[in-house]
Amino acid sequence: MDPFAELVDYEKVALSAMAEAATSEDLEAVRIEFLGQKKGRLRTLQSLIGKIDNEQRPAFGKQFNETKTNVASALQRRQSELSRPESVASGLDITLPSIAVEHGRRHPLTQTIDEFKDIMGRFGFSVVEGPEIEDEHHNFEALNIPEEHPARDPLDNFYLAAAKSAAGGPVLLRSQTSTVQIRVMEKTEPPIRIVSVGRVYRPDTIDATHSCMFHQMEGLMLGDDVTMSQLKTVLSMFAAAYLGHDVGIRFRPSFFPFTEPSVEVDMNWGENWLEIGGAGMVDPNVLRGVGYDPEKVTGFAFGLGIERFCMKRHGITDIRRLLENDVRFLRQF
Ligand code: PHE
Repeated sequence: MDPFAELVDYEKVALSAMAEAATSEDLEAVRIEFLGQKKGRLRTLQSLIGKIDNEQRPAFGKQFNETKTNVASALQRRQSELSRPESVASGLDITLPSIAVEHGRRHPLTQTIDEFKDIMGRFGFSVVEGPEIEDEHHNFEALNIPEEHPARDPLDNFYLAAAKSAAGGPVLLRSQTSTVQIRVMEKTEPPIRIVSVGRVYRPDTIDATHSCMFHQMEGLMLGDDVTMSQLKTVLSMFAAAYLGHDVGIRFRPSFFPFTEPSVEVDMNWGENWLEIGGAGMVDPNVLRGVGYDPEKVTGFAFGLGIERFCMKRHGITDIRRLLENDVRFLRQF
């Protein structure tokens, strides 16, 4: 065969042998056969140079070197292919650098709720849950809100037409978390220190600061000598823990059927006061209703609106943002 044709043939055979090699060991055998220093086929080809005319020698030398480079680099490529982990074949290359995957995050309101529970937990208040669908006893009567009271107006509450309480009476979506106070007192003896966080429902017209569903944190502390000044201390400590520095708490006289005296609570926020909720000393009628002796048991209760804290802290100006679940908004927290 013409020596030039032999070079072409050698390259073709070498490349297909490499392609066929299925393991690194196979490939090593191919390397020895085609590129081996002692008896490799390339050495045999090299010896052809002696049989070539002087004129053709430079051209043959050039083609010989090209062939050798092609075969050697094909060998290198195949070597690295075969030494890659098996997982690559299935499309998963565990040797590639990792890429961060964006994970989810907690809703800003959930973050606020968790923080509230955490702070109150450190003050020794345990967290309890109560139902969102309530009977009139727990939402009104036991809270000293009698039948004719305007707070019971069906237009101001979400009564459920299709459901009844266990006793057969009407039920509604609770309008306040104070219902949980009653549920706890009914089955626990003082001393009591609880908070309960959850949703409440009121048929308000929805706008930037009102929603027909929002969250409250209810607190209740009962014992044989619980005072109004302890109420103020607990709320001050709560506010300081939430904001990370001392903060003023202000009481304004108010009225709730289930506390006496009753106050609206404001918290100092920068230059302004932020109304955070209602509070007071649990009314003796309420204590009597659950079977306590108001001469022996005293206590305070408070109810704080959670959305307001969350909005104020994060500079959210429209409460509806908290309900829309727009990920572009939620991603910021
Ligand atoms: N339940 C009252 C409200 O929703 C707040 C409150 C709770 C007031 C406990 C006094 C004591 O407005």
